Amino acid sequence: MTSAPAARPPLDKARLGGDNPELMPDLTVEVVDTLESTNAEVVRRAHEGAPDGLVVVADHQTAGRGRLDRTWESPAGTSVTFSILLRPDSPTRAWPWLPLLTGYAVDKALQASGLEAGVKWPNDVLVGDKKVAGILVERIETSGGPAAVIGVGINVSLTADELPVPTATSLELELGRPVDRTDVLIEVLTAIREAVDAWEMGGDPSGMRLHESYAAACVTVGRDVRVDLPDGSVLEGRAIEIDPAGQLVVESGGVRTAVSAGDVVHVRTA
Ligand code: BTN
Repeated sequence: MTSAPAARPPLDKARLGGDNPELMPDLTVEVVDTLESTNAEVVRRAHEGAPDGLVVVADHQTAGRGRLDRTWESPAGTSVTFSILLRPDSPTRAWPWLPLLTGYAVDKALQASGLEAGVKWPNDVLVGDKKVAGILVERIETSGGPAAVIGVGINVSLTADELPVPTATSLELELGRPVDRTDVLIEVLTAIREAVDAWEMGGDPSGMRLHESYAAACVTVGRDVRVDLPDGSVLEGRAIEIDPAGQLVVESGGVRTAVSAGDVVHVRTA
């Protein structure tokens, strides 16, 4: 038997407003009750000329987008779903790090709330082998130059019955206590902005360089994996490292392959 969900308060719009010292000063947060997809909304706003640092948060998404053309859906009031618009100065060759550093930052913020989380390459945040947060980074060309839309979805108060798949989990299921969505949103936004700022300055997000920080948080390294590659082929082997470009290096039959995109499954060893 599963217990009924407790009352689910809306996000606290007052705490997310412009003069909130908890938020980094260079983020402008807009909270909307319902949207199809915050990524779609921020892409639209980017084309209209919206500035770096716009954050659109939806209390509920009705057609959330996931990676690899999947959907991302959750019952109203159960999740943190938002997108950030970035117009980075960093050279575009460095942009492949954006999805990874976002995963690293979300992981770091969730760990600070007591969760034993890690990042599955490239950027799923897991507790054990269950996914608690997903990230979709879209690169777009606008009349004001290239931009990145960073979308983050975090399962906060979903009950076991509400999980979209058995391989998902939520913060409340893992922590065994109520979790305030506004607290989570502020902590995660702050961590992402700090990591992005450090990346833009070529600096150091957490006492180590980004490459080392990410590799240390990435629970895929050392695991046997199956990778579904974009061309439809499958690579099976042992994930041995993250290379300096953020690619996952998989060793199979003595051959090392660096993977820049793909869907990774952590294979259970007997
Ligand atoms: C994935 O793991 O497949 C990525 C999921 C990303 C979901 C978030 S929710 C907020 C933002 N808006 C979207 O439409 N998608 C992202």
